[in-house]
Amino acid sequence: MKTRVLTVDPEHPTPEALAEAGHILRAGGLVAFPTETVYGLGANALDADALGRIYAAKERPANDPIIAHIARIEQLDQLARDIPPAARALAEAFWPGALTLVLKRAPGVPDTIAAGRDTVAVRMPAHPLARALLQAVDLPIGAPSANTFTRPSATTAAHVLEDLDGRIDLVLDGGPTPIGVESTVLDLTGPAPVVLRPGGVTLEDLQAVLPETTLAPRYLAEDAGTDAPGQLLKHYSPRARVLLFTGSRAATLTRMQEEVQRLAAQRLAVGLLLAAEDAEAFAEQGLTNRAAVEVLGGEDDHAAISRRLFEALRALDRRGMDTILVRDFGREGLGAALWDRLLRAAEGRVVDVDR
Ligand code: TXA
Ligand code: MG
Repeated sequence: MKTRVLTVDPEHPTPEALAEAGHILRAGGLVAFPTETVYGLGANALDADALGRIYAAKERPANDPIIAHIARIEQLDQLARDIPPAARALAEAFWPGALTLVLKRAPGVPDTIAAGRDTVAVRMPAHPLARALLQAVDLPIGAPSANTFTRPSATTAAHVLEDLDGRIDLVLDGGPTPIGVESTVLDLTGPAPVVLRPGGVTLEDLQAVLPETTLAPRYLAEDAGTDAPGQLLKHYSPRARVLLFTGSRAATLTRMQEEVQRLAAQRLAVGLLLAAEDAEAFAEQGLTNRAAVEVLGGEDDHAAISRRLFEALRALDRRGMDTILVRDFGREGLGAALWDRLLRAAEGRVVDVDR
């Protein structure tokens, strides 16, 4: 299969581009498109065969369910049943936006989207191109992140092609995605709302609407079966080994600097994912010529760090790094999502310098 790429102005997609994408989706094909979080790999959410093609293209295990994207609130009632008032309140507050709600699945919605569970995850994206596509095709679109399984999510069309060229029909290139980490996945099927994956909408934001919301991502070293979709520790990983440092800033930077010298002495290629302030500290130590540096953004600017994170991980992979060093940027707000992605990129290899 040859993958076509259409470059489109996200604010003003041409009717031709939308018609072509819509035609492919209605025929059961695969179209990657930008959302405000990351690029999605889309298929008709009501077509089990089309959804099956997503799993094949991504090499995704069959027990990991897929988010259904919608453009209109009425489509929620088509996909889910017994929708609790909390879901309506959250949709009102955060849709369109980076919040995915896990609800009970309506009859007629294919098993494949939920990997056999009786739930369904639904999100109304805010990105203008995603919205235009959903409106044009007038179907819910099932879309996981447009990367191969366990790789960092795609935040540009080039990332999509890096992983999926030749495996999907079309990429709508609408430029880089503005948030850069995935949506928050909130489970509303239990007694209290639980964040399964921290993401673009923060826990603090959710608690302002539903105070009883808790954060409970689980990290599993091995595939624990159908009870634990999307919770594998290895996820969002570059090919390089990632080490995640945590602790007070000064001690953390000292330990990271020692580690650069140790690894460089072994002739290993070292990559650094740094906040702008940290990059200055490394430069003062004369270490920036011993390692490949990717600056993410100001240390308190979690939005900038999130936007750059996956591109920076992929860039260090392209440059052939053996090891990537990064530090914890805090757990407040978007920091919770950053910590989650870094922990998974590191496959749990955390160095706590204060211990
Ligand atoms: O921002 C996003 O959420 C992006 C864009 C494209 O919308 N999508 C995305 O999809 O990140 P994916 O498949 O890479 O991650 C979806 C997560 C997975 O961890 C999956 O296990 C979880 O949502 N999920 C999906 N359906 C679920 C369900 N029915 N129950 C529990 N978790 C579910
Ligand atoms: Mg994903």
